[in-house]
Amino acid sequence: MGSGLSEAARAAAAAVDEGRLWQALMDVAAIGARPDGGVCRHALSDEDIAARARLIGWAEARGHEASVDEAANLFIRRAGREPDAAPVLAGSHLDSQPAGGRFDGVYGVLAGLEALVALDEAGVETERPIDIVAWTNEEGGRFDRSCTGSSIWAGASELESYLGDIGADGVRLGEALAKTLAATPDLPRRPRRWPAHAFIEPHIEQGPVLEAEGVPIAAVTGIQGVRWMNVEVSGKAGHAGTTPMAGRHDSVQAAVRAIAALNDLMADAQDLVRFTVGRVNVTPNSPNTIPEKVLFSIDFRHPDKAKLEMRGGRIGQVVRKAAAPCDTRLMATLTMDPAPFPEPMIALIEAAANGLGLGCRRLASGAFHDALYAAKVCPTAMIFIPCRDGLSHHPAEWAEPRHCADGARVLAATLVELASD
Ligand code: GLV
Ligand code: MN
Ligand code: MN
Repeated sequence: MGSGLSEAARAAAAAVDEGRLWQALMDVAAIGARPDGGVCRHALSDEDIAARARLIGWAEARGHEASVDEAANLFIRRAGREPDAAPVLAGSHLDSQPAGGRFDGVYGVLAGLEALVALDEAGVETERPIDIVAWTNEEGGRFDRSCTGSSIWAGASELESYLGDIGADGVRLGEALAKTLAATPDLPRRPRRWPAHAFIEPHIEQGPVLEAEGVPIAAVTGIQGVRWMNVEVSGKAGHAGTTPMAGRHDSVQAAVRAIAALNDLMADAQDLVRFTVGRVNVTPNSPNTIPEKVLFSIDFRHPDKAKLEMRGGRIGQVVRKAAAPCDTRLMATLTMDPAPFPEPMIALIEAAANGLGLGCRRLASGAFHDALYAAKVCPTAMIFIPCRDGLSHHPAEWAEPRHCADGARVLAATLVELASD
C-alpha cells in the first residue's frame, strides 16, 4: 500500500462523510444519555436493544443485511462478488461503562457503518463480503466477564458458561440475552463460529499520546494482558458502639490492609503495571455495624505475560497475610494474555494512513478490546484516534469530529484493500 494505495481505496476514503458520522454518533449517544453528558448503556439492557435497533434500521435502509448469533453479536453485511468468501470483519461494541462516554466502543461500530456507506457511494465493489460487528458485552460493566461476545465467537469460551452470570442489577445474563434476541425475531441467525479473513477495530485511544503529539492515527501494535479477580474478605459483624476494638474481625479494616499490601506488590519503577481496585461492596453497609464482609475487585494489567503471571500469582498470599485474622477468598473472573498484532496488519494500517496523507504512529493498547479475542483466530489490527485529555470511561470523554472521520477513512481504505484479494 502506501503510494500503492488503490484507486478504489482512495475513492472509498474520500466518500467518508464527517457530518454523517458525527450525527450517527450523537444519535446513538442519546440512547442511554446521562444528565452529565455521558452515557450509560449496559450490555443487553433496554438501551443496548434500542441502539441495536437504530443500527439495524440504518443498515437495512442502505440495503445491507443484518444478522445475529446466539451470543447476540450483531452483524451488518455489505455483499461482495464472492458470497462464500471469508468476510473482512470490522467493528467494536455498543455497550458502555455505567458512567461512560459517547465514543468508547460505539465509535468503532459507527465508523464501520460509515465505511460501508462510503464504499457504496464510491461505487466500490469488493471480492469478499464486509461485515460490521457490534460485539456483546465488551465492557463488563453489568456482567463481569467482559468481551463475552467476541470470546465466544473466537472459541475462547462457551456461551453456556455465561448464562447463569448475575449482573450488577441482579438479572441473569441468560434472561437479558433472551430478551435482546427476542427484540429482533426476524434477523437471520449466524452460526456461533465462522472464519473471518481479518478483523479491524477502530477505537478512541483512551490515553493521552496522540493528542499530545498532534498525530491523528495510531496503528496499534497489540494489547496488554489483564487479570481480573474478586476478593471476598470475611469478618464478624457486631455492634459498633459496644464491641471492644481488640479482637474485632472487621472486614473493611482487613480489606484496607490487603489493598495497601497489594499496592506494595504492584510497585513498579518502570510504570508498566496498571493496578486498580474499582469496586468495593460492604455487607451489611451500615455505619454502626462492624462490617461482616467486603468484596473488592482487582484489575491488574501488564504487557509482559511472565510479569503478569508472577505478580498475579502472589496476590492470594499477599491478601491472606494482610487481611488476617479475617478469612479471604480469591476468585479469578477474567484472564487475558497479551495479544501482539501481526506485523503485516500493523503495516497495513500505517500504509493506509500514510497513503491518505494522515500522520500515524505505532502505539500499544493499555485498554483491552474485542480485538484481543479476534486476534486468536484471524489477522487483526486496530486503528486509534485521539481523545481529549486522554480521558475515557468518563462522561466527559470526547473525540473531535475530524478525527472520527480520519479514523473512518483509514478504515474504509483498509477494508477495500483487505476485501479485494
Ligand atoms: C476496556 O473497557 C478496558 O477496561 O480496557
Ligand atoms: Mn471499548
Ligand atoms: Mn471501555
